Amino acid sequence: MITIHELRRKYIEFFTSKGHVEISGKSLIPENDPTVLFTTAGMHPLVPYLLGEAHPAGRRLTDYQKCIRTGDIEEVGDEAHLTFFEMLGNWSLGGYFKDESIAFSWEFLTSPKWLALDPAKISVTVFIGDDNTPRDEVSAAAWKRMGMPDDRIAWLGADDNWWKVGPTGPCGADTEIFYWVGEGLPPEGSNKGSDPKLWMEIWNNVFMEFNRVDEKTLVKLPAQNVDTGMGLERTVCILQGKKSVYDTEAFTPIIAALEKLSSKSYGAGDHELDRSFRIVADHVRTATFILGDPKAVLPSNTGSGYVLRRIIRRAVRHGRKLGIEGSFLSIPAEGVVESYAEPYPELVENRTRIVEELRREEDKFLETLKTGEHEFEKMLPNLLRNPQKIMSGRLAFKLYDTYGFPIELTEELASEGGLKVNREEFDEAYKKHQELSRAGSEQVFKGGLADHSEISTRYHTATHLLHKALRTVLGDHVAQRGSNITTERLRFDFSHPAPMAKEELAEVERIVNEQISRDLPITMAMMSLEEARASGAIALFGEKYEPVVKVYTIGDFSKEVCGGPHVANTGSLGKFRIQKEQSSSAGVRRIYGVLE
Ligand code: SER
Repeated sequence: MITIHELRRKYIEFFTSKGHVEISGKSLIPENDPTVLFTTAGMHPLVPYLLGEAHPAGRRLTDYQKCIRTGDIEEVGDEAHLTFFEMLGNWSLGGYFKDESIAFSWEFLTSPKWLALDPAKISVTVFIGDDNTPRDEVSAAAWKRMGMPDDRIAWLGADDNWWKVGPTGPCGADTEIFYWVGEGLPPEGSNKGSDPKLWMEIWNNVFMEFNRVDEKTLVKLPAQNVDTGMGLERTVCILQGKKSVYDTEAFTPIIAALEKLSSKSYGAGDHELDRSFRIVADHVRTATFILGDPKAVLPSNTGSGYVLRRIIRRAVRHGRKLGIEGSFLSIPAEGVVESYAEPYPELVENRTRIVEELRREEDKFLETLKTGEHEFEKMLPNLLRNPQKIMSGRLAFKLYDTYGFPIELTEELASEGGLKVNREEFDEAYKKHQELSRAGSEQVFKGGLADHSEISTRYHTATHLLHKALRTVLGDHVAQRGSNITTERLRFDFSHPAPMAKEELAEVERIVNEQISRDLPITMAMMSLEEARASGAIALFGEKYEPVVKVYTIGDFSKEVCGGPHVANTGSLGKFRIQKEQSSSAGVRRIYGVLE
């Protein structure tokens, strides 16, 4: 029986045998992308290349990429939804297009030499067309050439068969591949359109030909690209003939550890209990990968750190439902590190951080729970005087807002005392609170994914100037620790032990503006990573690089390994101003800067 690790290798082996170059997957924390908190798809790190930048490894690429999607977090616990998953990808950057892409997919899925899946259990969807793009007859014809019967091809609209990475960015029609998960063989005429629940999506081939610039404008990309994503866990699930991704070895060791800790059995018929097992298993795997990432974020109250905090806390809550008391997540987390050590050595390197941060966050949350329970007990005598035995939503919200006490636990405690919580009132207060806090992070979502509009490109070049200026003024210990660009500003994190003096800031600003006024040309060259280092180019710590990299040189001033894009001359940047310099974390400073 094929394992996840074997499928990952097999996929890469197949596509390298078809002239693709294996590139390494990237961090879960996107750089220079103001619009998402995590890498959500395999194509995400490739956006600049889909938009037209040359990729140093060529036109045919293949990789496996760790991804996180938390949009469906409420559905985690069913058979197929996960917050962390791996995507296997093959890419054509202006090379082959629909015909070859479909032929490759078909061969890999059905050839006895590769996955040997039963063609009778495969169906596909293709784009039905709209005002911008015609009906995708080319893909349909390619499928028919593979032997796909007419009635296994569902023609669907943009909701199903138009893939976009965000409100703006590269996009195009896609064709999706599904596998039959019903009993026996699928009946004649069945496809994703007729029986949506009985077909599980396993692979998506996107034909990226357009760039959405804004709501109204779709422009043709310089080249026709292919972006495909195969869900590793789902595909292994069908290859192993399992009903659920949780029954594959991506999860069985985690669940076994949880069974031991809780002295309860998974799959014994208690649906709610099984759901909790799955939620803890999913969340601990996700938290392990976030904390094990070279660019890990730590639990916090904002952005991706907040997502991590919620995931850990939800795992703790469901752990309690399984009857596990005290902090326990580091035990299944160690199992995740072991089983993923080969494809993701960073987990082993960061094992201590994973274990320590999980413990710290769990202990903090357990403390929160204790305080909340104590506060609830203090309220109880008063609550019991209420003749309707209803606890107001306002009071439940206060417990949540002041002590971080989760509503589900308030409800649990209330019901033990024979009370019901006015959930509607709570939800209303909660929604209002969410809207307020979302307004604060709105910034993050402005502009569309990897907005390579002119303004972002200018900020990107300014970031290189700033990086070099900081090294000039403060010394070579300065190294980039993070970078984030919106259409309004740049943010740059770098290693430096102390707050910067006023004079130092003024000098950095002066140097950047001096380089802008020299109107230096920016040039790009491709070379091996060793050559790049030998030439004095700055490469980032903790970043995974390909054997051949792009080096961007700004006049005689700066040289960095970087994916691009950049402006052609520094003169177009305008005037640079540092808005703020502050601490980011221990030993790391943060600068906000604007171009005016
Ligand atoms: N971008 C597509 C997806 O995420 C294919 O990789 O489904």
